[in-house]
Amino acid sequence: MEINRHFLGLKESYLFATVGSKFSAYQAAHPDKKVIKLSIGDVTLPLAPAVISAMHAAVDEMSRRETFRGYGPDATCYGYPALIDSIRGHYARRGVTFEAGEIFISDGAKSDLANILDLFARENTVLVPDPVYPVYVDTNVMAGRKILYADATAENGFLPLPDEGTEADLIYLCSPNNPTGACYDRAGLKAWVDYANRRGAVILFDAAYEAFVQGELPHSIYEVEGARECAIEFCSYSKTAGFTGVRCGYTVVPKELKRGGVQLGKLWARRQSTKFNGVSYISQMGAAAVFSEAGEREIAKNLSYYRENAAVIGQMLDRLGIFYTGGKHSPYVWMKCPKGMDSWTFFDYLLENANVVGTPGCGFGKNGEGFFRLTAFGTKENTLEACRRIEDLLR
Ligand code: MLT
Repeated sequence: MEINRHFLGLKESYLFATVGSKFSAYQAAHPDKKVIKLSIGDVTLPLAPAVISAMHAAVDEMSRRETFRGYGPDATCYGYPALIDSIRGHYARRGVTFEAGEIFISDGAKSDLANILDLFARENTVLVPDPVYPVYVDTNVMAGRKILYADATAENGFLPLPDEGTEADLIYLCSPNNPTGACYDRAGLKAWVDYANRRGAVILFDAAYEAFVQGELPHSIYEVEGARECAIEFCSYSKTAGFTGVRCGYTVVPKELKRGGVQLGKLWARRQSTKFNGVSYISQMGAAAVFSEAGEREIAKNLSYYRENAAVIGQMLDRLGIFYTGGKHSPYVWMKCPKGMDSWTFFDYLLENANVVGTPGCGFGKNGEGFFRLTAFGTKENTLEACRRIEDLLR
């Protein structure tokens, strides 16, 4: 018996697990201190009333023999029509149309971003922006794939563009980006779409933070011509509607997307029906209410609450004269560590002296070294208090 030795190429623990255990160890050693966590992007506002009513109604249905449900519908890979239709409506309002069979319901973007790799041979070369959400790198290390990096730096506005000399088969894009908050415009996305189509590559587009996009910037890669032929899009209700503990997301694989003469959507349906049993009816009905009229109105309020937190963090950094980006189209503020500290030194300094936990930038890639990420998903009170403490410490 041989284990998958590629796992040995990973860091010992997942970024957010490392941060979480450092927080827990510090809190256990200092039970009297109120440590504020602005690290993992976990939401703090409760679910919207429209979502809660839909979930209550679904629970009631599950309590009656006539309306009880077991496994979800096969034809849509376990997505109920009400949810699929609400997602189609959400896209249609931005001029993007899909058939029901192009939308797959999942338990969140993270799982699908990892599981999609089943469709691609190990020999493919992967291109990952640096810094970025660590799941893309870790899952490809586990599979033993060759990984190339596209540098995202202050010089390119943290939005790298394709380099014709780079021979990538699978390209990850995350826009708005986690952790930098940078958001591609149409021209930027079009450059990637054209590059992918020229090469026959596939773009894995993580749109988990699309709800935070403001103004005219694209929310979906399918707002760009040619994307249906080369891109798979991953979306989540976690950050949009506070579903981190509920679990529901969706992945779009357009019919036009074919490689090796095969529709990737068919492979994905085959994969999902073999390895996945869908998302609970109750969660799906809650999710279907997110893009209803009432749901959208209520969720907009929650998004503004988090945006205000991001503004509070930004104003604190402005007063301190510290470089940062993000916070505008994203719930994350990406700041330069002060006084030339590296990311983990600043993490420890902040934890010990301000009792505030953030995420060290180097955990997102080598270009993240010397940076630090703060989330705006905390409560308003904790965000204000954390900012007050950071400002007192760094002034
Ligand atoms: C983050 O903090 O980057 C995210 O919350 C992690 C995740 O969504 O898995």
